[in-house]
Amino acid sequence: MNQSHKKDLVAEAALGYIENGCILGIGSGSTVNCFINLLDKVKPKIEACVSSSELSTQLLKEKNIRIITLAESGKIPLYIDGADEANNHKQLIKGGGGALTREKIIAQASDKFVCIIDDTKYVKQLGKFPLPIEVIKIAQSQIAINMMGLDGRPVLRENFITDNGHIILDIHNLNILEPIKLEQEINNMPGVISNGLFAMRKADILLVADENNIKVY
Ligand code: A5P
Repeated sequence: MNQSHKKDLVAEAALGYIENGCILGIGSGSTVNCFINLLDKVKPKIEACVSSSELSTQLLKEKNIRIITLAESGKIPLYIDGADEANNHKQLIKGGGGALTREKIIAQASDKFVCIIDDTKYVKQLGKFPLPIEVIKIAQSQIAINMMGLDGRPVLRENFITDNGHIILDIHNLNILEPIKLEQEINNMPGVISNGLFAMRKADILLVADENNIKVY
């Protein structure tokens, strides 16, 4: 079974969490795109969506789903999003698609965060996937030096500007033993908008698609 079929499977499983009259937070990325594709099946249940990226917004609009802002929604009952890595504590690395900051804001505003991944992303320890950090340009070199001090190898994401108008540093080679501590430490660096560790606000439910079925953690 290929990875894209697993994404479809796990996206389908997430539909089961949508209740009538739902305000739904929507993440970003290829797994979420599969999820958005399936939303026709449950459309009457969805009152509106809060979207985490321009691309997800565009796809939702093509489905004629109403988009509202976080200011309009207030607390969001359910947030569905993918991840680049997840561990057995449901802590995540996100931001491979560069939408980490808005995703983090929406996750924080949500009562329930259901994360949908395939089993290639379920790992013992976070950090094989380079950790994305959204950064204000002027702070790029300073933050890169700080991350090298943590044994990371920062790489500027080429030809990429986030929806918020900032750059991304992808940090390779991190040995992430204490995700919450590292998330806080990076947040404290001046010029960091946000980092892709979702350890303080981790997923509440993790759905993992393998060859045959969905595991729920
Ligand atoms: C977007 O910025 C990311 O956080 C995505 O949620 C994450 O990269 C997963 O994307 P895929 O579903 O495309 O692997």
